[in-house]
Amino acid sequence: MSIEIPDGLTELLQSFTVEVLRNQPEPGDLLDFALQYFSQLKENRTRGAAFDNARNSANATSRPGGGRAVNFAEEAMQIDSENDEDDEDDEEFVAPVINRFMRRSSVCAEAFNPDEEEEDKEPRITHPKTDEQRHRLQEACKDILLFKNLDPEQMAQVLDAMFEKPVESGEHIIDQDEDGDNFYVIERGNFDILVSTDGLQRVVGCYNNRGSFGELALMYNTPRAATIIATSAGALWCLDRLTFRRIIVKNNAKKRRMYETFIESLPLLTSLEPSERMRVVDVLSTRAYNDGEQIICQGDMADCFYIVESGQVRITIRSRSTAAQTRKEEVDIAMCSRGQYFGELSLVTNKPRAASAYASGSVKCIVLDVQAFERLLGPCMDIMKRNIANYEEQLAILFGNNTELQEQNDA
Ligand code: CMP
Ligand code: CMP
Repeated sequence: MSIEIPDGLTELLQSFTVEVLRNQPEPGDLLDFALQYFSQLKENRTRGAAFDNARNSANATSRPGGGRAVNFAEEAMQIDSENDEDDEDDEEFVAPVINRFMRRSSVCAEAFNPDEEEEDKEPRITHPKTDEQRHRLQEACKDILLFKNLDPEQMAQVLDAMFEKPVESGEHIIDQDEDGDNFYVIERGNFDILVSTDGLQRVVGCYNNRGSFGELALMYNTPRAATIIATSAGALWCLDRLTFRRIIVKNNAKKRRMYETFIESLPLLTSLEPSERMRVVDVLSTRAYNDGEQIICQGDMADCFYIVESGQVRITIRSRSTAAQTRKEEVDIAMCSRGQYFGELSLVTNKPRAASAYASGSVKCIVLDVQAFERLLGPCMDIMKRNIANYEEQLAILFGNNTELQEQNDA
């Protein structure tokens, strides 16, 4: 009697085994792990894995353009040309569910509750610095979102504890799956972000002379989620694990309490599981703007995404008529209020900002950097895509038939 192995069984079991080996659940947790894995797999398939397919197939063959760490470009292209042919291609593609599951499974590996972190008994770590070093360090840290919500005393302790690390081109700063030692802030230099899934390593993004990385392993006590390699000589500022956990992770407990309810109420994030929404809270930062202040400038390159926490944000676009363009006239096209988001379009399309945004009255926004947007908001892409499709209509009403968004960027 011959036994026929059903199509897909081998791949299914192999993928599961790889996940078990990667995540190393306790033997007693194996059943729960399997349940979570297969439920997630089913959920992904039901919801349509087209999003991940498009991202991963794009990443497997190309680096993201424009030097930014955005992986949505391929998906965004479908907005303009969602035709049957593309849909068929998507269905044939075997969903690389491991990638997505890993993101979610790392939540279950989270062995840390910031609220329960012991009061620190360790001596404070201080690396003495010259005035010149301190100045450079402050410059490098001034836009780091994870530091934005620290009070001055906490910030001073972080700066004291940081130390400088020169890097050479080709140096591995972080290797995926290793334990986390430091959090890194870039002073200068370029770095590739590589993620291995299923034995295939892909460049999923890069940092150019700014930004930070290495927070995930320290926040969630998980292995490193990516490899970071210097592609030029440069310099980094490092914050040791203990200080990071004592200050940043503790501060996140406060943030969780402050933003939990708001984040849970956001329609955009309904596709995320509660633990994933908490991850959004962990990496968000807030910015306040005065009446009339510019938040986004049309034509600029983008590096973050915004959700309005309070106040009103006016979205404007430069008028299409040549005369109006010469006068730099801007037309109001939308108003965003509490709970609404903006600034996603350029991250998705990897193009310059398509419109400008101004505070109308006092405004407070939640801000996510491009890497967090890319890593955490993938499951919210359907909702974003629907809204992006509406932008075209909105512009057609305002400007007539010639509605390509790119024209806005060129203006
Ligand atoms: P960590 O897991 O500690 O180490 C690798 C770092 O790469 C990770 O923290 C993030 O800071 C950064 N990173 C940037 N993009 C990604 C990505 N797409 N997936 C995982 N990590 C990423
Ligand atoms: P982004 O292009 O990153 O920056 C400007 C933001 O304005 C854009 O993302 C959208 O979030 C928002 N926006 C609102 N309405 C429109 C529209 N009709 N066209 C383009 N952008 C719009």
